Amino acid sequence: MTLTTHIGSFEFANPIMNASGVHCLSAQDLDELAASAAGSFITKSGTLEARVGNPAPRYATLPYGSINSMGLPNKGLDYYIQYAEKFQAAHPDQPFFLSVAGMAPSDYVTMAKQIQASSFTGLTEFNLSCPNVPGKPQVAYDVEATEQILTELFKVFNKPAGIKLPPYFDLAQFDAMAAVLNRFPITYINSINSLGNGLMIDPATDTTLVRPKGGFGGIGGAYAKPIALANVRAFRERLRPEISIVGTGGVRNGRDVYELILCGASMVQVATTLQEEGLGVFPRLLAELQVAMAENGHTSLTDFQGQLHTITTPVTDAVSGASVKD
Ligand SMILES: Cc1cc2nc3c(=O)[nH]c(=O)nc-3n(C[C@H](O)[C@H](O)[C@H](O)COP(=O)(O)O)c2cc1C
Repeated sequence: MTLTTHIGSFEFANPIMNASGVHCLSAQDLDELAASAAGSFITKSGTLEARVGNPAPRYATLPYGSINSMGLPNKGLDYYIQYAEKFQAAHPDQPFFLSVAGMAPSDYVTMAKQIQASSFTGLTEFNLSCPNVPGKPQVAYDVEATEQILTELFKVFNKPAGIKLPPYFDLAQFDAMAAVLNRFPITYINSINSLGNGLMIDPATDTTLVRPKGGFGGIGGAYAKPIALANVRAFRERLRPEISIVGTGGVRNGRDVYELILCGASMVQVATTLQEEGLGVFPRLLAELQVAMAENGHTSLTDFQGQLHTITTPVTDAVSGASVKD
């Protein structure tokens, strides 16, 4: 059995890795990820300036996942570029991902120029979907703003690029966003970021679980799984086939990984379950993915990637017996 997978021209020994935001803030975190069983790793989303993020409490464990309002605490883009250059020089055959987030649309171009000028040749993920910075919208809910950012960005950037997207809930949104994405030289999309602006309440005190934004925070974990599957599937049906998909959201076991791949993902990221379980999550998920594959008779990811079955048997009217169009 092989778990080899590809994004653009990059090959990875297996498709499971961290999602940006968990266990990836410092050089030590990143080194630990790189030495783990994960197939690759991604940095915390770096911003132009280092940030302390929002006041605590800003993360809480929920019965089926997590709520967070971290507010992009990070060590700043320079730190992550330096780490990336150094790691790449020492490990030229271990491709990885650098995540960046803008506080303003113009930041994306400034950051793209800096990464372009660096020696980093891996994958850069432009996070257009952070829900937790007070006063800042999730850019990728605005199709025109996204198109403008990508237009400016790709004037200065020609390295492999991915776009981290928020969850969409209406088929018209998938149509509109995919039409824009298809016009740019994007290597992959990452779908989905947390479900923005959920609210959870402590029943003992009638108080929100997190402090920032009046208790509103991004929801991850099992709550996100059906939305992540639908987003990966919807984009796989609409994007140019050369644009790969990283599936993120709701992974708790190997079957969840399998299902994101079934919907079209080439790589699968884990945030909440990594936060809860630590690096041991990777060997567990890899073993469980192989069980799920064996149960279905698959020996490689391409055997089932994007091969979701839908129900297409003819429907018959119970009274007349005539066939009904669904
Ligand atoms: C504590 C925490 C911090 C996060 N920080 C980032 C971030 O900096 N950049 C980003 O693109 N996504 C961030 N996310 C979102 C995750 O990468 C992921 O898209 C989301 O949590 C859904 O995955 P999950 O269901 O496995 O949690 C963060 C999530 C959590 C829980």
